[in-house]
Amino acid sequence: MANRHIIDVIAGDGIGREVMPAAIRCLDKLSAVHGFELEWRERDWNSERYLRDGAMMPKNGIEQMSDGDAIFLGAVGTPEIPDDVTLWGLLIPIRRDFMQYINLRPTKLLPGLEARVRGVDSIDLMVVRENVEGEYSEVGGRVYRGRPEEIAIQEAIFTRTGVDRVARFAFDLAARRTGRLVSATKSNGIIHSMPFWDEVVAGVGAEYPQVELESVLIDALAARGVLHPSSFDVVVASNLFGDILSDLFSAVAGSIGIAPSANLNPEREFPSLFEPVHGSAPDIAGKGLANPVGQMWAGAMMLDHLGETAAAAEIISAFEGVLASGNSTRDLGGSLSTDDFTDAVFDRLGA
Ligand code: NAI
Ligand code: MG
Repeated sequence: MANRHIIDVIAGDGIGREVMPAAIRCLDKLSAVHGFELEWRERDWNSERYLRDGAMMPKNGIEQMSDGDAIFLGAVGTPEIPDDVTLWGLLIPIRRDFMQYINLRPTKLLPGLEARVRGVDSIDLMVVRENVEGEYSEVGGRVYRGRPEEIAIQEAIFTRTGVDRVARFAFDLAARRTGRLVSATKSNGIIHSMPFWDEVVAGVGAEYPQVELESVLIDALAARGVLHPSSFDVVVASNLFGDILSDLFSAVAGSIGIAPSANLNPEREFPSLFEPVHGSAPDIAGKGLANPVGQMWAGAMMLDHLGETAAAAEIISAFEGVLASGNSTRDLGGSLSTDDFTDAVFDRLGA
């Protein structure tokens, strides 16, 4: 019997609703070609729902998805609602309740594209971002609101378990790739959590003699990311540093519209979530201008996770092929609409 995968689909807002159908069309074709089944469970969990019902998702939303095999997300966010509401009302609860403590973000200089920095001719790296603790924490508060003596306190949480497991994932990945791992730190300025991060990472590193570990201060790392992105293979970083670095790398490699992201529960106790790095792009939404590559590549990471590795490789080579032939959407300097680009990818599948 064919493998059957149940996938919760949250297209979300803005261009999420344009790039999601584009990716699903291609994945459906791949499932027919490769002989597996995809069952899509569409969820209208978006900003419209929030404006109507006062919540991004139902109270038991997490429970509804818990028997699924994966979650496929477009993007959420609209100018009418504060961004912390859309983020903390949907994505952050999913990441935390499903223990998706790894956020894996590949960056590659795709064929046919030029890096935004002169002299850079290859980029192929993975950012491993800690995804459930660190700087994005609920611990803290605000008092004396609006008064001159107002105070805001935001605590960063780093646990040995949390740092150990993200470091282990990154060392394993580096060992399978070129054996080089860079750890993002700021132990000169942030004097409690970052030396702790460094110690735990180095401790895990002692178990991986085949991997060369380099600790780099985040400010210098950002500059090196712009000037010498080819010098990285795997980068492990805290929640905030990893978030910023992955946007930086994807911008250097061409466009934020191509970058994918996997929120993984490596133990597979819960579904993992796959999404593009970009947001809902209200500035171009509804105009057919969105680049669907980030969503397609996220779909490839999802297929990989589900064990459909041949189909995953095929969609990547299909969009690479279209880009290599000089066809792309406007963000990459081309002239194709979302649909035209998707048609071109679709036609290459199963050929
Ligand atoms: P954004 O990624 O939506 O857009 C940044 C810029 O990149 C815009 O100029 C946009 O037109 C362009 N862009 C993004 N994706 C593109 C694509 N696929 N093709 C072509 N151009 C693309 O980030 P921004 O503007 O900071 O946020 C907009 C909304 O998205 C906000 O409400 C924000 O909270 C939300 N957001 C949601 C995320 C998620 O759902 N995971 C992630 C990031 C932002
Ligand atoms: Mg981000």
